[in-house]
Amino acid sequence: MDNNFDVIVIGGGPGGYVCAIRSAQLGLKTACVESRGTLGGTCLNVGCIPSKSLLNLSENYHSVLKHYNGLGIEVENVKLNLKKMMMRKEKSVSILTKGVEFLFKKNKVTYLKGTGSIVSANKVSVKNNGKKIDYNSKNIVISTGSKPSFLPNIAIDEKIIVSSTGALSFSKVPKNLIIIGGGYIGLEMGSIWKRLGSNITVVEFLDHIVPGMDQDISKEFLKILTKQGIEFKLNSEVTDVKAIGGKAVVDFTNVSTKKRKSVECDKVLVAVGRKPNTKELNLDKLGIICDKNDKVKVDKNFRTSKKNIYAIGDVIEGPMLAHKAEEEGIAVAEIISGQAGHVNYNVIPGVIYTSPEVATVGKTEGELLKKGVKYKIGKFPFLANPRAKVNENAEGFVKILVEDKTDKILGVHMIGPNVGDLIGEIAIAMEFGASSEDIARTCHAHPTYSEAIKEAALAVDKRAIHF
Ligand code: NAI
Repeated sequence: MDNNFDVIVIGGGPGGYVCAIRSAQLGLKTACVESRGTLGGTCLNVGCIPSKSLLNLSENYHSVLKHYNGLGIEVENVKLNLKKMMMRKEKSVSILTKGVEFLFKKNKVTYLKGTGSIVSANKVSVKNNGKKIDYNSKNIVISTGSKPSFLPNIAIDEKIIVSSTGALSFSKVPKNLIIIGGGYIGLEMGSIWKRLGSNITVVEFLDHIVPGMDQDISKEFLKILTKQGIEFKLNSEVTDVKAIGGKAVVDFTNVSTKKRKSVECDKVLVAVGRKPNTKELNLDKLGIICDKNDKVKVDKNFRTSKKNIYAIGDVIEGPMLAHKAEEEGIAVAEIISGQAGHVNYNVIPGVIYTSPEVATVGKTEGELLKKGVKYKIGKFPFLANPRAKVNENAEGFVKILVEDKTDKILGVHMIGPNVGDLIGEIAIAMEFGASSEDIARTCHAHPTYSEAIKEAALAVDKRAIHF
C-alpha cells in the first residue's frame, strides 16, 4: 500500500468519518485511523445510537404496560425481556457502524485500524497488535473525541459504579439507581431505566437541571420528570461513592445547608460531563497548544498552532455534540481543498431524547438578558395543539425569542412531542435570517405538532388563534 496521503483523519467518530468522506469526495487521497475496531466513535458505539435505541424500546414497553389498556388495546402478561432488548440495541449499532465502513469503501477512504499518534507535522504512526506503521500526510485532522469525566477518588468499575457505557448494558434492571449529574446523559439514561422499572434518584450540584438551557424549559422539564417518578436532589454535591458488598453508597452534601447524606443503591451512574481525548497524541512535543481543559486551540479555520494540522469535534471548544462535529468535519475538508468551509455556531440545535423531548437552538432568554438585547417572546402550549391532544401527549410548549426591533428569530426552545425533529424547521428559518412573521405566514399542515411553532410565532404579537 502507498503510505502517502493528502489527509489523514485521526478518529472515526461523526466528526472524523464525515471529514474523511467529504475529503475523499473532493478528490483528496484520504485515510482515517480508528482504534476501537468499529467506526462511528462514541456516538454510534456507546452513545447517541445505543441510547436512542433503548429510549425507543423502553418507551414502547412503558406505553404497552401503562397506557394501552386505557386506550382500548387490551394486552395481558406484558413482560420485559431485557436480554432481547439489549440484542436489538446491539443489532442497531452493528448495522450503523458497518454502514460507515461501507461508505468508506464506496468513497475510497483508506481505513487504518489501530491507535494513531502524530510523530511530526507530516507523519502519523498507527499502532496495532504490537506493530507500528508510519504514514505521511500533507494534512492531519485530529478528531479523537472525548471520554467521560470522573469525580476525584471515585473509581468506575462499569459494574456497580458505571459511566454511560456501563449503563447502556446492565444485564438486570437495577432496583435503585442513583445518577450523579442532571445533564443530557443523566436524564436520558434515567428515563430508560425508570421506564424499565428502576427507582431513579438524580443528584445534581446546581439548583436546576440541564445547565445552560433556557430556564423556562429547565423548570418545566424538571416538573414533568418528577411527575414521571424520577426523584431529584438538587443543590447536592456528590463527594464520595463506594462499592461495598455488591451495592454502592453515595455521599452527598447540600451545597447551601451543608447537610450531608448517605444513600445506598444497587448501581451508580456517573454522568458529570466529558473531557477531550488529547493526551496520547504527542501534542506537547509537536508544540500544539491546548487550553486548561485539554481542548486543542484552533483558529477560525480549525487550524492548530501547526498550520497543516487541524482539529474538530469534542477536542475543540463548543458543545460536545455529534452534529456539531460533523459540520466541522465538512468545513475542514472543504478548507483543505481550497473552498470556504464554515460553521454557523449560532444555529447548533441541541436535543434531549426523553419523553417528552427537549429541543433548543440559538440564544436563551437568560443570554439575551445578560447581553442587554431587547426581545419579545411568543409561547404556545402543546395542550392547545390538536395533534398533541388526540395523541394524548400534550405536555410542554414552544417558546420563540425574537429581536424587539427587527422581529428576527434569536432562539427557540421547546419541550413536547417530537420537538427533536421539529427543531429542524427553526434551524433552517434561522439560517435564512427569518422573522417570527415569516413562520407565522407559512402554511403548516393540520393537524401536526408543527402548528404549535406557527402559533408560537403568532403569539409574539399576541395573535395566536388557538390559545
Ligand atoms: P452535562 O454537562 O450535560 O451534565 C453534567 C451535570 O453534572 C451538570 O449538571 C453538573 O452540574 C453535574 N455535576 C457535576 N459534578 C457534580 C457532582 N459532584 N455532584 C452532583 N452533580 C454534579 O454532562 P453529561 O450529561 O455527562 O453529558 C456529556 C456530554 O455529552 C454533554 O456535553 C452532552 O452535550 C453530550 N450528550 C449529548 C446528548 C444528546 O445530544 N442528546 C446525549 C448524551 C450526551
